[in-house]
Amino acid sequence: MSELNKIALKILSNGKGILAADESNGTMTKRLDSINVPSTPENRLLFRETLFSSDGIKNFIGGVILYDETINQISSSKQTIPELISTSGAVPGIKVDAGAKVLAGSTEEKITEGLDGLRERLQIYYKLGARFTKWRGVYNISDKCPSKLSINSNAHALARYSALVQECGMVPIVEPEVLMDGDHSAETCLKKTSEVIKKCFEELMIHKIDLSGIILKPNMILAGNTSNKKISSEEVAKLTLKCLKKNVPSDVPGIAFLSGGQTEIEATENLNLINKYNDTNFIMSYSYGRALQQSALKFWSKDIKDIQGTQKIFNHRANMCTLAAQGKWSAELESK
Ligand code: 13P
Repeated sequence: MSELNKIALKILSNGKGILAADESNGTMTKRLDSINVPSTPENRLLFRETLFSSDGIKNFIGGVILYDETINQISSSKQTIPELISTSGAVPGIKVDAGAKVLAGSTEEKITEGLDGLRERLQIYYKLGARFTKWRGVYNISDKCPSKLSINSNAHALARYSALVQECGMVPIVEPEVLMDGDHSAETCLKKTSEVIKKCFEELMIHKIDLSGIILKPNMILAGNTSNKKISSEEVAKLTLKCLKKNVPSDVPGIAFLSGGQTEIEATENLNLINKYNDTNFIMSYSYGRALQQSALKFWSKDIKDIQGTQKIFNHRANMCTLAAQGKWSAELESK
């Protein structure tokens, strides 16, 4: 078993999942504005430290994705943030892409940037304690999208990123996110997500990536958020499995879904059914941002000093997600 494979399994084994707390300062400011909390470095740290020092991290979370600001901050207990996370038994990770920018040649689409100087930045993050990384490619669905240009160029960037990350001894999370925005059907989402994932693996193989040392972070197969043809959770689970079985090589140890705008309950229920029907060898877990933090953030906004109350909400959410990652979640458990 390679070192990278060991890291990937440490993050995702026993129903553990990933807390995606890597919102950029811009995104975090939007989240904090929505709850009327000033977006200062201190407040961003306070919320995140509240989660990172919770029992939920110890019991249910195998990895935490950080943003550059956070990985460089010091906790109130005078530990570095990666130390605080490692002490809880989780693996510190870091978002290393520089965001999605307008794609020249197809101005309605985006290409994720951040390859220049990446080798040097990775060495710094490794020294700070990171052992895995994230890079998100983003694709939208419309008549003409995602275009070949967007599919090919984002797959190429994800593969170049992965090669540099593995060279530095870290596990790359490969995140091709096909957005749920639009009125498309789930069948269309299946077709387009399949094209995107297939191309990603073609490029990963050209770039000689050790597939046993990556984690794939895809979207689930859903109808668009303005579609009037919503499908049931059973269908979401079955179509998602169909897509992954066909397009993901069996060497990949684990798949950690993004929540992508689903509610906390939707993201939990869908993951639970994916695991109930999972007839593959892939670990199917979560790498949620909003679906792990939304209710905790809302509670915290009422009193940002109420650490224990906020942690209680987060612990419950992480517990539910970890049950879902084992196919053991039920709606009744939500209210207990
Ligand atoms: P959401 O679960 O909120 O989609 O965030 C996951 C993520 O890391 C997006 O890049």
